Amino acid sequence: MSQHHSNVKQLSIVDLQQMKHKAEKISCLTAYDASFSALLDNADIDIILVGDSLGMVIQGNETTLAVTLTDMIYHCRCVVDARQRAFVVADLPFMSYPTPLIAAENSAQLMQQGRAQMVKLEGTRLEIIEFLVEQGIPVCGHLGLLPQSINQLGRYLIQGKDKQQADKILADALAVEKAGASLLVVECVPASLAQKITEQLTIPVIGIGAGVDCDGQVLVLYDMLNISLGKRPKFSKDYLTDNIDIEAAVKAYINEVKQGTFPSLEHSF
Ligand code: KIV
Repeated sequence: MSQHHSNVKQLSIVDLQQMKHKAEKISCLTAYDASFSALLDNADIDIILVGDSLGMVIQGNETTLAVTLTDMIYHCRCVVDARQRAFVVADLPFMSYPTPLIAAENSAQLMQQGRAQMVKLEGTRLEIIEFLVEQGIPVCGHLGLLPQSINQLGRYLIQGKDKQQADKILADALAVEKAGASLLVVECVPASLAQKITEQLTIPVIGIGAGVDCDGQVLVLYDMLNISLGKRPKFSKDYLTDNIDIEAAVKAYINEVKQGTFPSLEHSF
């Protein structure tokens, strides 16, 4: 593995906000352990997401639902200690935010024991977001396809395809920002909708399957290395096949995000 940076400054939410203002694209990948965390950090990834996608790619489940807060804390801690520069966001897992108070207590554990810099939660949970922000907990929203609701959705499918649905997602995004979120992930929505959301929100918008006009991009690391169990989603690109090793694959991804060449139309809806 290559050398760690020496004395690098850890990115904060202010740096991410400035990147949006300067129209500098934000790169994000998931990681769940120290080795990948250090590798992504050395490649200058801006955000590492300790996603509950670990339920699928680490634990081998078909959904994210079985992931516990204890799992998230464990993996977050593994990631945090190994990175120097990247901003670390950790998912609040399924049913860990049913009420504002429970959400705050669980977020506190993710931040104090897991040492996450920000927590991410799915859906238009305005009351929860407001309460967390009041307690000093930075929140990343997540709209569009919500994997924790898969048993209500039935399938992992594009969201916001018709105008009514798209208007609702845009209104939700504005409401999530107003509730105090400082980042937003939008998953699996038409590129035109993600573009509108990105233009109308002042907080950085990170897309996955949401077209090239978002402020930044995120992929599940194991998808972009094409080593996930099951089929790679349409919106993910295999970066390993054309690169000599994992480090080169990650650097190629970051470069394409920064240049605005990923995702292409082939990887968008
Ligand atoms: O769990 C995860 O990795 C995520 C990304 C797909 C955005 O939420």
